[in-house]
Amino acid sequence: MQKILSVVGARPNFMKIAPIHKEFTNHPEIKHLICHTGQHYDKKMSEIFFTDLELPKPDFYLGVGSGTHAEQTAGIMIKFEKVLEKENPDLIIVVGDVNSTIACSLTAAKMGIKIAHIEAGLRSFDNTMPEEINRILTDRISDYLFVSEKAGLRNLKHEGADEKKIFFVGNTMIDSLVNYLPKAENSQIFEKLKLHENYILITLHRPANVDSDIFISQLYKTLSVLSKHRKIVFPIHPRTRKNLELHSNNDEISERVIFTEPLGYIDFLALTKNAELIITDSGGIQEESTFLGVQCITVRDNTERPSTVEIGTNQLIGTNMEKVESAAIEVLGGKKKTGSIPELWDGSTAKRIVKILTN
Ligand code: UD1
Repeated sequence: MQKILSVVGARPNFMKIAPIHKEFTNHPEIKHLICHTGQHYDKKMSEIFFTDLELPKPDFYLGVGSGTHAEQTAGIMIKFEKVLEKENPDLIIVVGDVNSTIACSLTAAKMGIKIAHIEAGLRSFDNTMPEEINRILTDRISDYLFVSEKAGLRNLKHEGADEKKIFFVGNTMIDSLVNYLPKAENSQIFEKLKLHENYILITLHRPANVDSDIFISQLYKTLSVLSKHRKIVFPIHPRTRKNLELHSNNDEISERVIFTEPLGYIDFLALTKNAELIITDSGGIQEESTFLGVQCITVRDNTERPSTVEIGTNQLIGTNMEKVESAAIEVLGGKKKTGSIPELWDGSTAKRIVKILTN
């Protein structure tokens, strides 16, 4: 029996592994194990996703928690090595670009264990992003490169990756979205937030943004201006919460900005689907909004997901909140982007991946 071990660690990983796990349940010849590194550990950053996405309790929980990049990466490697020693899987699956992704790939590569990387080939060409380093290094040592959008193919070929390792399969995060959209239709989040009108959905968590004093004070101004146009829903990442509290000046924030704790998958999907506009610095939300045809403004200077801008509803505006504010007002005034859905974002990516792995 073939043994495959999938790694999850941080919030954006759970929805990418859930459809893979589900697909493996149709393959009794495969023993599929899940290891959670514990990079994200708050109930609202982790546990709620296991419930929402119907994932089983992980077979291994490393409980590594927060720390500097070196502490977190090294901490995961030390503990993950013991898991690999015990289980000796034929293959590990890693997703995305978080510290857990590179930590576990690096550990497996040195033990001669094969690696499949889901969401391979994405590049922002910005090495100041820790995720860019994680992406490049993980791809270099992976045996299966599962690519979610055309740009990934171009990048991997340009870098000289072995073409036999590259598989254009689409986006497993969209599998989860397609699968759970019907459930999201029944979400109670609108009643909970007393939200029965058009709204803007905001998420910001990138250290390059929210660790900057200038950015946070600009953000307060933007929230106060935009809230005069529409209600705003702002689920807050733990890092952002810390920085907002440091600078809190409640006078500037109208009651039309609804701050919430980080939300679960189903409730957040309901908010994404029905938003008039999303303002975000997340990677995944750029893709989810493109799939749903929802207007999205990305508060970054670059994106590793160019199809969302080239053919989707995403606009890359940069990190100056005054510019974000102007772009948002234009969208609310009717200047909407029409978009289409990138190739193979069809809800069947996990099937394609598992078929390749089981052949
Ligand atoms: C990580 C990923 C990022 C991804 C993001 C999604 C890396 C390098 N970055 O960033 O790509 O977009 O996850 O959220 O892997 N914290 C809590 N509770 C938690 C988790 C974190 O309070 O459950 C706080 C801690 O103060 C921690 C901080 O958030 O220091 C940052 O967490 P960390 O895992 O280092 O990275 P993220 O910023 O979440």
